[in-house]
Amino acid sequence: MQVNVRIEAGGSSLGSPSGHPLPTLTPHVKIFDGDIEQILLSSEDIQGKIAETGEQLTRDYAGRDLLLVGVLKGAFVFMADLSRHINLPLEFDFMAVSSYGAATQTSGVVRILKDLDHEIIGRHVLVVEDIVDSGLTLSYLLKNLRTRKPASLEVCALMQKTGVQRVPLDIKYKLFEIPSVFVVGYGLDFAERFRNVPYVGTLRPEVYRDAVS
Ligand code: PRP
Repeated sequence: MQVNVRIEAGGSSLGSPSGHPLPTLTPHVKIFDGDIEQILLSSEDIQGKIAETGEQLTRDYAGRDLLLVGVLKGAFVFMADLSRHINLPLEFDFMAVSSYGAATQTSGVVRILKDLDHEIIGRHVLVVEDIVDSGLTLSYLLKNLRTRKPASLEVCALMQKTGVQRVPLDIKYKLFEIPSVFVVGYGLDFAERFRNVPYVGTLRPEVYRDAVS
């Protein structure tokens, strides 16, 4: 249940329709900075591309009944930011699948842990993914969703790793290509941590060592 809360805002000169100042959305999470070896995508890189993609989606889906399907858990941060750049009425649903477990290599095994809440027959569905690695997760999901007869089915992926895809995929909206290294942040985890890092980066080797010792 949602409750009314008073937001104490600071630092913004923008005003809301009610006259109250709006809070800034500057990322403040710095606690993990010491664990990061290299930043691959800065917060500014990510937000800039998301704004562009949101404009493109707003044009492409104008007048259509858009449903965003987020692939949990990794896509939740990207989906939240992207959706606020799509200037259209839209709906949200989520699927949860498992491919990696706690390891850093894909197993090739895809299990549905949570299915969609609603039917998608006749809907314009945009699958929102954080990262495409081997492509096995997405390939499985697309095949599965196609059988449910959506009016259209496209993919918006924040990142794709280059040179490691094991199945052919048509990703219409792809924001970044990155090298084939294990990355965390902006929704992506290592052993369920680092999802709230506001950028995408690689971890220092000692973080893995400390996790197993
Ligand atoms: C990641 C990512 C994709 C998938 C991509 O999810 O979010 O769904 O792996 O890998 P693939 O292209 O090799 O199939 P993960 O299983 O790590 O789960 P999570 O999103 O809950 O962290």
